[in-house]
Amino acid sequence: MEKMFQEAEKFLRLCYDELGKTEGEVEQRIQEVFREIDDNGFYEHNYEELKFGAKAAWRNSNRCIGRLFWDQLHVLDKRHLNTEKAIYQALIEHIDFATNGGKIRPTISVFSQSISGETVRIWNHQLIRYAGYETEGGIIGDPDSIAFTNACIDLGWEPKYGHFDVLPLVIQVNDHEPQWFNIPEDLVYEVSISHPEYEWFTALNLKWYAVPIISDMSLDIGGVLYSAAPFNGWYMGTEIGARNLADDNRYNMLPTIADYMNLSNDRPSTLWKDRALIELNTAVLHSFKQAGVSIVDHHTAAQQFKKFEEREAKADRDVTGKWSWLIPPVSPATTHVFHKPYSNATEKPNYFYQTKPYQEE
Ligand code: ARG
Repeated sequence: MEKMFQEAEKFLRLCYDELGKTEGEVEQRIQEVFREIDDNGFYEHNYEELKFGAKAAWRNSNRCIGRLFWDQLHVLDKRHLNTEKAIYQALIEHIDFATNGGKIRPTISVFSQSISGETVRIWNHQLIRYAGYETEGGIIGDPDSIAFTNACIDLGWEPKYGHFDVLPLVIQVNDHEPQWFNIPEDLVYEVSISHPEYEWFTALNLKWYAVPIISDMSLDIGGVLYSAAPFNGWYMGTEIGARNLADDNRYNMLPTIADYMNLSNDRPSTLWKDRALIELNTAVLHSFKQAGVSIVDHHTAAQQFKKFEEREAKADRDVTGKWSWLIPPVSPATTHVFHKPYSNATEKPNYFYQTKPYQEE
């Protein structure tokens, strides 16, 4: 409880200072919040505090290269919803609002805070993600989704055994049995991957969804824990082209692409992986652009991050960062991020990993 007072005060001072409030206003709010904690064991943020807290949490996200836009986050306050059905409808609304016909809006939906015995959890890692199946004939779909896909099947969802099956939303309120819901197909924007020069690329039948909406992290603002607070930005091309479709423990497409390119893959030194990787990443950026869906290449993203660092310096704030995550997986040394160190200290507000509510194997 002592901790709660400290964290609340620290957050309120930061928040009210940055929002340009008077000394009197912050002192009064701190007293009010202290009384609330005394009476109930917890306190509630007003919308202004929630909005600032969610944005500051993004600003403090050490793994994120897209933080220049932290102040443009749309914060949807969904704390009043307490049934699975209503939460599902809010998630659908989030997907629609964030997708915005392809002009993606950075958005977070915040559901009710965790208090003893009351916790909302979204079981999905991202609201939109492809299923993964372990079958006799090998893995189908996204290997990273296998455990969650099994959990969905256990809950009664029908497996489809396709390579790109959108998983259902799984919502749990308190200790109730989790409920699953399908996402209306027309709300899920997907981009078919083609290449600006290689016509054969479409024959690979690759696609990816438009909006990455992380839904399994908690949001900690001033000692208040929001265990369900899905948020999204837009993709950086390499997330799809150098990881999701390329990693050998994901869609593992490099050998196939190298084959189509007639590259000899008998020795690593032909750099067939690197050449295939470049064409796959070219295709991802080209396809999203052509489909009118927001995406950023890693060079532009690094420049934007540089601008973020400059702005933070001007505001007299330190930028923390996790170097191994900030450097892009393609041509890292061509970006300034590669050539300097970052302190990986954890500032709050922030987003945190939580233990998975289902069996991970
Ligand atoms: N790397 C994750 C993926 O490929 C998404 C993480 C969040 N990315 C973002 N651009 N906001 O699905």
